Amino acid sequence: SWTMNSIIDDSVAAIRAQVGDARVILGLSGGVDSSVVAALCARAIGKQLTCVFVNHGLLRKNEPEEVEEVFTRQFDVDFVHVHAEERYEQLLAGITDPEEKRRIIGSQFWNEFFAVAQDLDGVRFLAQGTIYPDIIESGARKTGGKASTIKSHHNLIPFPEGVHFDLIEPLDHFFKDEVRALGTALGLPDHIVHRQPFPGPGLAIRIIGAVDREKLTVLKEADAIVREELDAYNERLFRETGERNGEGSVWQYFAVLPDVRSVGVMGDERTYARPVILRAVESSDAMTADWAKLPYEVLTRISGRIVAEVPGVNRVAYDITSKPPATIEWE
Ligand code: XMP
Repeated sequence: SWTMNSIIDDSVAAIRAQVGDARVILGLSGGVDSSVVAALCARAIGKQLTCVFVNHGLLRKNEPEEVEEVFTRQFDVDFVHVHAEERYEQLLAGITDPEEKRRIIGSQFWNEFFAVAQDLDGVRFLAQGTIYPDIIESGARKTGGKASTIKSHHNLIPFPEGVHFDLIEPLDHFFKDEVRALGTALGLPDHIVHRQPFPGPGLAIRIIGAVDREKLTVLKEADAIVREELDAYNERLFRETGERNGEGSVWQYFAVLPDVRSVGVMGDERTYARPVILRAVESSDAMTADWAKLPYEVLTRISGRIVAEVPGVNRVAYDITSKPPATIEWE
C-alpha cells in the first residue's frame, strides 16, 4: 500500500543516512523481528549487512534450512551460518535447571556472535530487532516487573569489555502487527512473517531435564507433526470463517518432552518409552492463555501420528492447564 511503501522508503533513507558506507552486523534468529530488520537493511544497504545466524541446534525441524534459504537466495546480504550445534551440546550436557539453560544459551550466543564480529573488518553498527513493546517491557524489567521475575528473556545485550557498536533499531517505534505488515511488504515469506512465538533458548526449554541429541531428535519429529496438524486445523478454520486468530483458532502450539518413561505395548511387545506432551493455547498476547479446546478427532490424529511416526514415543498427553496458574512453556 501507499503508506507501507512510504514507511519503507523513510526507513531505508534513515538507515542509509545513518550507516553511510560502514558495515552493519545483525544477529539473525529466524524470528519475525530480526528477519524484518534484515530485509529492511538488505534493501537499504545490501551487502554492507552481515547477518549472523548462530545455529544452536535448538530450532525446530527445518528452520535453519529455511532461514538460510531466505537470506541467501531471496535477499542479497552477507550471510554467515555459524554451526555451533556441537558447542551448545557440550555446554548443555547434564544441565537441568531451566534458568541455567537460558543463561548458558544466551551467553554462548554472544560468544559466537562476537567471534564473527571480530573476524570482520570495520563493523561499526549493530542492528537489532527491538520493537516498541520491548522498550516498554525492558522498563518494566528494570523496575522489577513481571517479565524479569518469572523467566529471564534475552533481548538486552551485555557487550563484552572494550566492545562498542552504534545501534540501529529501525523497528523501535513499531508494534508487532506493523512489523509483520512491513515484513510482508518487503517480500518475506509467510512462514517467517506469521511465525508463532518461539523462545530464544528454543527446544532446550521444551526438553525437561538435561538436553541431549537423542531427545532433541524425538522432540523435533513430534513437534513437526504437532505443527503440521495444527497449521492445517487453523487453515480449515480460516477457510470456514474467513477470520484468522478468531474464535477456536490456536495461537501457539508445540510438543514438550518430559524426563520420564512409561510402559506401553506394541504388537506383542511391552515398550518402555517416552511420552510427549502436547501444548496448545489460545491467547492474544501471551500474558494469559487458555488451553485450546481442540476437537477430539484432531487430538486423536496428532496422538496417532506421533506414536506411529516417532521412534521412541509410546504415549501422548495433552496439557489442559491455562495461564495462570501454569505458564505457556514448561520451563
Ligand atoms: P510463558 O511460558 O512465560 O511464555 O507463559 C510467554 C511467551 O513467551 C515465550 N517465552 C520466551 N521467549 N525467551 C523468549 O524469547 C524465553 O526464554 C522465553 N520463555 C517463554 C513463550 O513461548 C510464550 O509465547
